[in-house]
Amino acid sequence: MTDSPTQPTSADPSQNPRILIVGSAGQLGRELEQIFADVGPIVAVDRESVDLADPDQTRDLVRRTAPDVILNSAAYTAVDRAESEMPLAHAINALGPRILAEEAAERNALLVHYSTDYVFDGSKQDPWTEHDTPAPLSVYGASKLAGEQAIQNSRARHLIFRTSWVYGPHGNNFLLTMLRLARERDRLSIVDDQIGAPTTSIALARATREIVTGVWAGRFGPVQDWSGLYHMSCAGSVSWFGFAQAIFARASGQLGVKAPELVPIGAKDYPTAAARPRNSVLSNAKLHARFGVQLPSWQSALDEVMARLQGRPGSE
Ligand SMILES: NC(=O)c1ccc[n+]([C@@H]2O[C@H](COP(=O)([O-])OP(=O)(O)OC[C@H]3O[C@@H](n4cnc5c(N)ncnc54)[C@H](OP(=O)(O)O)[C@@H]3O)[C@@H](O)[C@H]2O)c1
Repeated sequence: MTDSPTQPTSADPSQNPRILIVGSAGQLGRELEQIFADVGPIVAVDRESVDLADPDQTRDLVRRTAPDVILNSAAYTAVDRAESEMPLAHAINALGPRILAEEAAERNALLVHYSTDYVFDGSKQDPWTEHDTPAPLSVYGASKLAGEQAIQNSRARHLIFRTSWVYGPHGNNFLLTMLRLARERDRLSIVDDQIGAPTTSIALARATREIVTGVWAGRFGPVQDWSGLYHMSCAGSVSWFGFAQAIFARASGQLGVKAPELVPIGAKDYPTAAARPRNSVLSNAKLHARFGVQLPSWQSALDEVMARLQGRPGSE
């Protein structure tokens, strides 16, 4: 746990907000901790400090740290394993957020939470909006949807950001898996009939900061004007195969990685425990209209991550 100096809880925008980050060792949590460093005093915890599946520990954490803003980037994210660990996935992804929301409501704190494109079944041709009806194909998607609903049904001031295909310079993600596999194999078969928007932990953390600091400063008006659910992903869309091509187009130049031969395959030829949506591209129009925030294209966000990795290939 990183524990910074404390100051009294205050909803006074002239004071810096006290921030609690849950899930600080995850891809997004690491970026949030860095990007919010100068916003206010931070308490950042991961699962060795709190088990989000344990309501008593979660309540105790919030009461002890007395935050003005809770950033919850912790989640059960093992999409395939969730199929055989449904109770645990729901405890972490639905019960945990419910308790955070109850505690946030109790002290009038803002709860920021992240959800997933996998709440949708992928059947739509166009990008999914916040008005579209979720119909998760997987236990993971259902558990995240239940987390959204628990927060929406609470009295907490909240921002739920649904995002997609998250990756960054650290952690478990498609980019780092591709770079590792390229060192082991000459040929990779990659799914080409699932479309989404790869989104970096860096872009997500920056956009979150812009919105949270604006909310705190009163720039977006009263709570009923901004509290709610928003889609937040990098602009554009691509298949996993196209994403892999873009990764190796950059990695072979910048990181000196030998690009493997890439073979496009259908999802039916790559069976996984959990089904995934065919099209999970999110429309970010509501986010832009409400907060004036737009994430970069997935290509330029990828450039930024590659630049961060440069100089330390294979360090993850
Ligand atoms: N990754 C994606 O592709 C993706 C796509 C769409 C949406 N999202 C959402 O975006 C958010 C951030 O995801 P991410 O990619 O940063 O996830 P991540 O890298 O898997 O990080 C999640 C963090 O939560 C922690 N955690 C897991 N179980 C916990 C528990 N019981 N108590 C406390 N902490 C626990 C994990 O710790 P351990 O590592 O020790 O388990 C990990 O540090 C999540 O809400 C996720 O659902 C992710």
